[in-house]
Amino acid sequence: MSVKDSDIRSCCSRNLLIERRALLACSLAMTLPGLGIPAARADPADPRAARPQPGDHLVFISGDRREQIIAPADLTVGALPTLAYPMDPASRSIRDGSRVNMILLLRVNPDEIAESDRSRAADGIVAFSAICTHYGCPVTGLDQAAKNLACKCHGSIFDPRNNAEVIGGPAPRRLAALPLKLEEGELKVAGGFSGAVGQQR
Ligand code: FES
Repeated sequence: MSVKDSDIRSCCSRNLLIERRALLACSLAMTLPGLGIPAARADPADPRAARPQPGDHLVFISGDRREQIIAPADLTVGALPTLAYPMDPASRSIRDGSRVNMILLLRVNPDEIAESDRSRAADGIVAFSAICTHYGCPVTGLDQAAKNLACKCHGSIFDPRNNAEVIGGPAPRRLAALPLKLEEGELKVAGGFSGAVGQQR
């Protein structure tokens, strides 16, 4: 579902009132079965909780194709962000043992990506941590006017063409970026997160 400007304005104006609701929303987000988000804290010894590694595939988090590998053709310019988890290509183990590993993928016009960020993109596909830096909700929306990333909890807006910098709302800092690459036509992780991941105050 997309976020309209009016929804975002309304959400921001109610910010103080929904502060407590936000905490509830975020705790609910940690247990959303449709997103397959584990409720328990990650065990650091669990390989599924390891951060994304170079060469990892990316798989759908939910929907008919849950746990299937995401191909470049699955992502189109103007579409909503696609939520993904990394998957180890050797063991095919999905790194869903930590909510922090949740990634959003978005395809934009390659010419619109800031020059400093182009090396992280793969044919216009960019990837960022999906965990909002405000209260940790998954960032799943798109501001239809400007095609920026929108967090539905309190309306934070991030610019996917410029390192996911905050351009609106209460988020204190940008989303961590995840470099991508195309290898023989396959979309893969090219390196670790750049920047702090998730809600850290
Ligand atoms: S959790 Fe508050 S704007 Fe994202």
